[in-house]
Amino acid sequence: MQDLTREEMLAWFSEKDPQKLEGLFREARACAIRHVGSKVYFRGIIEFSNLCAKDCYYCGIRKSNPNVPRFTMSEHEILECAMAAQEMDYGSIVLQSGERQDEVFVRFIEGVLRKIKNATSGKLGITLSLGEQTAETYARWFGAGAHRYLLRIETSDPVLYKRLHPPDHSFETRRECLRTLRRIGYQVGTGVMIGLPFQTHENLVEDILFFKNEEIDMIGMGPYVPHGETPLVQEVDTGENFRLGLVMIALSRLTLKNVNIAAATALQTLDPSGREKGVQAGANIIMPNITPTDYRKFYQLYDNKPCLDENARQCKSCLEKRIRAAGAEIGYGEWGDSVHFLKKQKSLKESKS
Ligand code: 5AD
Ligand code: FES
Repeated sequence: MQDLTREEMLAWFSEKDPQKLEGLFREARACAIRHVGSKVYFRGIIEFSNLCAKDCYYCGIRKSNPNVPRFTMSEHEILECAMAAQEMDYGSIVLQSGERQDEVFVRFIEGVLRKIKNATSGKLGITLSLGEQTAETYARWFGAGAHRYLLRIETSDPVLYKRLHPPDHSFETRRECLRTLRRIGYQVGTGVMIGLPFQTHENLVEDILFFKNEEIDMIGMGPYVPHGETPLVQEVDTGENFRLGLVMIALSRLTLKNVNIAAATALQTLDPSGREKGVQAGANIIMPNITPTDYRKFYQLYDNKPCLDENARQCKSCLEKRIRAAGAEIGYGEWGDSVHFLKKQKSLKESKS
């Protein structure tokens, strides 16, 4: 099949006919099966600290929100979560927190990575989602055992980026970070928020082309959900943002084909079956929350985050049911690396030999 043109993608973002949309989603799911297989891979996410030096206008844990009690889990607590993930047969975990660049933090992460790798005999895949860092820090963490990194660009439009962030946050720095991560050897993931105030359908089309031009391996994107204690807070059309979220997954799948695409938790805030619908529209990754229940309420980037009162095992059986209901199989115990990344690595090796 030929790549979708800008005009075709634009038309899909305005499509409201449920039957036509179903057809698009079916095609995207078939495309996922063809290029990355029929399995859905779980990455257990540990949201281990809400301390953050950033002040993004949309985010509930921005540094200027005085209402959030701040926490950081201990190395021991993080390690316990990682071991629980392995026991539950998750192939990989994601370590996510607010952004900090101080040496104490950098060294803490380095230590945590080494300990997890040792404790799991290198078997557990580790993705980091710790924001913008120097090339040296990214390299240290790579050396300590992380092999994938998620850093959302939030929007590929520099003008819109400016409207969503304070003046000292830079779109160019963020894009440069993505390029640095690739150079170091990470599988690189990025993504955007969908249905942001001031965002147009044209912006979303350009976001997909950005993923393609930057040769992104993994995509994690989800609908914007307002948080009441942020400057951006604005009424959004929930149903519309949900529809846009699914169309975005489907069009990204049809355009990029062999990348990993996550069905974001925020989808489930807008629709009780949000994540399984994401899989049916072409996503192949789910990130079950494995953060200890007591900490979850302090890590709310947006309002009405689901699963606040559940624990890791409850989330596992809940998601298992949801994914099976969506007609997909779960890739337990496997890394489920990005096929896009593996193919690129293979052709690089072949060109060198
Ligand atoms: N709605 C949806 N997603 C959000 N994020 C932050 N705030 C919100 C919000 N209000 C997302 C950002 C960030 C990721 C960790 O969480 O895209 O990169
Ligand atoms: Fe946590 Fe369903 S995924 S309860």
